[in-house]
Amino acid sequence: MKTIIEQLVRRLILLCFALTGTILLIVITLITYQENPEVKEVIKQEDLLMEWNPEKLILTNSSVTEEVRKGYYLVSESFKYMGPLAKNPELRYAGNNLSCTNCHLNGGTLSGSASWINIMDRFPQFRGRENRIGTIEDRINGCMERSMNGSALPNDSDLMKAIISYMNWISKELPSLNSENFKGYPAIKLPKVAVNLSLGKEIYDRECILCHGKNGAGILYDQQDKGYLYPPLWGNDSFNDGAGMHRVITAAAFIKNNMPYLQASWDNPKLTDEESYHVAGYINSFQRPEKQNKIEDFPDKKLKPVSTPYGPWTDNFSSEQHKYGPFPPIIDYYQKTFGLKKTK
Ligand code: HEC
Ligand code: HEC
Repeated sequence: MKTIIEQLVRRLILLCFALTGTILLIVITLITYQENPEVKEVIKQEDLLMEWNPEKLILTNSSVTEEVRKGYYLVSESFKYMGPLAKNPELRYAGNNLSCTNCHLNGGTLSGSASWINIMDRFPQFRGRENRIGTIEDRINGCMERSMNGSALPNDSDLMKAIISYMNWISKELPSLNSENFKGYPAIKLPKVAVNLSLGKEIYDRECILCHGKNGAGILYDQQDKGYLYPPLWGNDSFNDGAGMHRVITAAAFIKNNMPYLQASWDNPKLTDEESYHVAGYINSFQRPEKQNKIEDFPDKKLKPVSTPYGPWTDNFSSEQHKYGPFPPIIDYYQKTFGLKKTK
């Protein structure tokens, strides 16, 4: 009897030791475990390439209609099908050699780059720039006239219809590519200081110059009809001065969440908010095409984003400050004077 109890006690003690040991081991593993950042980055890039495969998903996919495929070509090789390189001069609506997808990455499916997935849910919507309810066609033409430095596509044209069919198709068939649903870009925390152009240049030389070039002119493919390998950021073939990307706050948010290309994403950015802000000011400090009639933008001037670099404004801040910040004082002014809560 006694020996059985002794044996039991001994086993219990052993069990306790084993349990404590296991728990200790788990705790130590948890404390010392660190994600290897390099491994994480490699996996991320592979994921991106594997997921977004236009050849497989669109071009050779037999369930895709001709119209959707045409829409894909229009947005991803805009310069060739509706820009300066279009064979038919009547189709040259875009004025520069960019493509829509230079800014709306991965065929407009990538979160954090103003993805078009589920875009129709947001239209029609109120637009301050026109001070009225705008349709998806109006919004696309906003980018045609500014980002693409061109002219509006007729609403009933085959081009417009194909682009919208494409947007509907990716929303229905590829929603999982849009890992997080943002409207436009995830916001950055606005620095309290003005853009520092020499800091911006330092960041540009370190992080951007390799692809976008010393003069911001980008790099063309050798083959003439293939457009840009790396698109231009300023100069005559870039977006014009009425474009969203010409506003420092908007450009900074795009850059933070998407650049340097394939190294940054919304959930794994490379630059800080401040770095993105200074470099956004730097690329927008150079000459670019001028949009005509900008004075008509934002009929209700109070609704103009604070970083719209062209007047008139309903405040007394300088044009320099509207272009390069600091923006928090302007944002405060609109909040106090008009009760308007502005973010950009
Ligand atoms: C130079 C960069 C650039 C190019 C090129 C460009 N866009 Fe845009 N686009 C933007 C910016 C910036 C926004 C506003 C993002 C935001 O909400 O802050 C935008 C917004 C949009 C929106 C509304 C997105 C939303 O979530 O409400 C649509 C639709 C759109 N663009 C379509 C197009 C199409 C189609 C083309 C080609 C004809 C094009 N864009 C070319 C920069 C660009
Ligand atoms: C590895 C090459 C590479 C680097 C480095 C890089 N970019 Fe880009 N950038 C690209 C490519 C490629 C695109 C177009 C993406 C597409 O078409 O899918 C692009 C697009 C852009 C665009 C929108 C299109 C346009 O022409 O206006 C901006 C703005 C931009 N980059 C800014 C920057 C800034 C600022 C940096 C540095 C912080 C940077 N990029 C670093 C390759 C690069």
